[in-house]
Amino acid sequence: MKSILENRPELAYEVNQAAEVAGYLWQKGWAERNGGNITLNITEYVDDEIRALPAISEVKQIGKVLPYLKGCYFYCKGTQMRMRDLARWPMANGSIIRILDDCASYVIIADQPVMPTSELPSHLAVHNYLLEKGSPYRASLHTHPIELIAMTHNKKFLEKDVATNLLWSMIPETKAFCPRGLGIIPYELPSSVKLADATIEALNDYDVAMWEKHGVFAVDVDIMSAFDQVDVLNKSALIYIAAKNMGFEPDGMSQETGVKELTEKYRKRFEAFYHTEGSNTDRKGSRRKRTEESPSFLKEVIHSILDTLPELLPSMVLSKPRVITLCTENIAVLKHALSLLVDFL
Ligand code: 13P
Ligand code: ZN
Repeated sequence: MKSILENRPELAYEVNQAAEVAGYLWQKGWAERNGGNITLNITEYVDDEIRALPAISEVKQIGKVLPYLKGCYFYCKGTQMRMRDLARWPMANGSIIRILDDCASYVIIADQPVMPTSELPSHLAVHNYLLEKGSPYRASLHTHPIELIAMTHNKKFLEKDVATNLLWSMIPETKAFCPRGLGIIPYELPSSVKLADATIEALNDYDVAMWEKHGVFAVDVDIMSAFDQVDVLNKSALIYIAAKNMGFEPDGMSQETGVKELTEKYRKRFEAFYHTEGSNTDRKGSRRKRTEESPSFLKEVIHSILDTLPELLPSMVLSKPRVITLCTENIAVLKHALSLLVDFL
C-alpha cells in the first residue's frame, strides 16, 4: 500500500521527527505502555491530492467546536499505541485526520484507520487556540516524565511558579530553553474537555503545563523543540533530586546573580547555530534550519566531544580531529558516526 508520506519529503520529515521523539520518550522511561501522545498540525504540507483523498473512517466527534481548525490536517498518535512502536512505524501507530467543515468532527484519511489519541480534545483545542493567536507553534506533546510528575505529589510544588523557579535555578539551560516556565493544572480526568480548557488557559502564560499527578503538555514550533522544553525541565528535576539524595538542599542559582545574563548568552549562542526564515521573526517565529556553525560553538562544544571519543572508544582507533567545518557533508558524516556510536554502545 502506498503511504501518504511517499514523494512528500517535507511531510515525511515532520512525521519522522515525531517518530524520533517517540523513541526518546521510550528510552527515557516516560512512555510506559501507551503513555503519552503527539499531534502535529501538518496543514501546510497538504496538497490537492491529499485534499481529494476519501475518508477511511466514519465521521467522529471531537467533543468541542473549534472554528480555527476548519480544513486543517493533523498527524496524531493512535490511542493505545506505544511510543516505542511509533518510533519504528509512525504510520501504523498513528494516522492523519481531516477536520470537517462543522469544525466539530473529523475523519481519518491515511494511511490506516488508526483511531487518534484519547487526548485529542486537549490537543485539538490547543491547536485551535494557537491558530487563533497567530502562533507559529505546530506541534504538541503530552508525556509522563517521572521526576516532574513526582514533584506534583507535593502540594508546595503546585503553587504558582514554585516549581518553575526551583527548576530554573538548577542549571542555566532550563531558563534559556524553557523561558516561559512550567504552568500547573490541578488534577482533571484524562481525556476530558475540562482538562482541555484548563490546558488552553495555562498555555496563555507557559509553553509547558503540568497535569497534576499525570504528565506534561508542551507546545512548540516543531515536535523536537517541544521535547527539548520538557527535557530541560526534567533534567533540572533530576539535579534537584540528586542533591537531595546526597543529603543536602541544593543552593540553586539566584536570578540576581547573573543567571539571567548567563541564560541569555547560552540561548544566543544556540540560536546562532540556527537561522530563521524571513525577517522580523523571533526565536519561535519560524521553522529552524541548520546553517553554518559559528567557530566558538564548534570549538567549545563539537571539538570537545570529538576529542573525547578516542579515549572513550579505544577499540575503534579514532584519531583526534584537528580542523572541522560543519558543512552539510560533514554534518552527514558526523550523524553517521554518531549513529554507529549509538549502535556500538
Ligand atoms: P492514548 O494512548 O489514548 O494516546 O493515551 C495515553 C495517555 O497518556 C493518556 O493521557
Ligand atoms: Zn497521559
